[in-house]
Amino acid sequence: MSVQTSDAAGAFRTAVVPAAGLGTRFLPTTKAVPKELLPVVDTPGIELVAAEAAEAGADRLLVVTSPGKEAVAEYFRRDEDLELTLAERGKGALLEKVKRAPELLDVATVYQYEPKGLGHAVAQAGPELADDEGAVAVLLPDDLVLPTGVLSRMAEVRAQFGGSVLCAIDVPREQISAYGVFDVTDTDADDVKQVHGMVEKPSADDAPSTFAAAGRYLLDRAIFDALDRITPGAGGELQLTDAVALLISEGHPVHVVVHDGGRHDLGNPGGYARAFVDFALQDPDYGDGLRDWLTERLKD
Ligand code: UTP
Repeated sequence: MSVQTSDAAGAFRTAVVPAAGLGTRFLPTTKAVPKELLPVVDTPGIELVAAEAAEAGADRLLVVTSPGKEAVAEYFRRDEDLELTLAERGKGALLEKVKRAPELLDVATVYQYEPKGLGHAVAQAGPELADDEGAVAVLLPDDLVLPTGVLSRMAEVRAQFGGSVLCAIDVPREQISAYGVFDVTDTDADDVKQVHGMVEKPSADDAPSTFAAAGRYLLDRAIFDALDRITPGAGGELQLTDAVALLISEGHPVHVVVHDGGRHDLGNPGGYARAFVDFALQDPDYGDGLRDWLTERLKD
């Protein structure tokens, strides 16, 4: 059976950022601070992801949040008093940093009242889409895909093939069992594969490929209907990948763009530490000092 895709054009206007999870890997900090607001040097991960969405042409960011995590939405609100204070004190560079998040794009929030999984979080965005929005982008705020730009390539691929487009990173086979892995065949473009299925955390021997899922999705709005039809999977949660698998089984085209670049997983302290160091090393204020200190420190 072939499923009609809602809109073959690649474009999307809304970027959904699910930020309603419990962040258990970052306890105890996440008792009080949403992990999406943890700073990478001085900027929260969610701002880096919002900037990526804006760069790819989104004009609206829909943050899926939960009661108690209002600080995430608060972060994107203008703070005119603070701006005035910084201006009066001649802190121009800081003023620009403070103004950046609210100016990136329109930010709205929807609630996920219980953390029932990523699929359930994305489903909360469905009613917010306008009738003419054929696709929606989903960006996981704890996943930095670098350099930015993969969403624009994903939009091109959707314009060509229709359906939904995901992002993959080619990882060494010995590390593959930490990831969701795509079962793919080649297309005419080197960086684009057709997806036939997905396996969560396979052993290195069983992995159908070395293409691992990264947290960027360009989903046809057919995903919302699929999310209504799936039942809870791993961990009793509604899994986004189960909804994608359902669409594939019904003939909906799904492709991946194989991103040529790096990735940081901000969702656990080890990945976060690497991201922080990586960004800090490139920072004009802190980079040189950190490099010198690290060089000495690593001699021990
Ligand atoms: P994660 O699994 O990385 O986040 O989900 P988590 O559940 O908060 O983290 P741990 O495993 O307990 O440490 C990826 C993204 O999806 C969101 C999270 O906020 C995170 O940004 N998410 C996850 C939701 O919005 N709702 C959920 O029910 C689950």
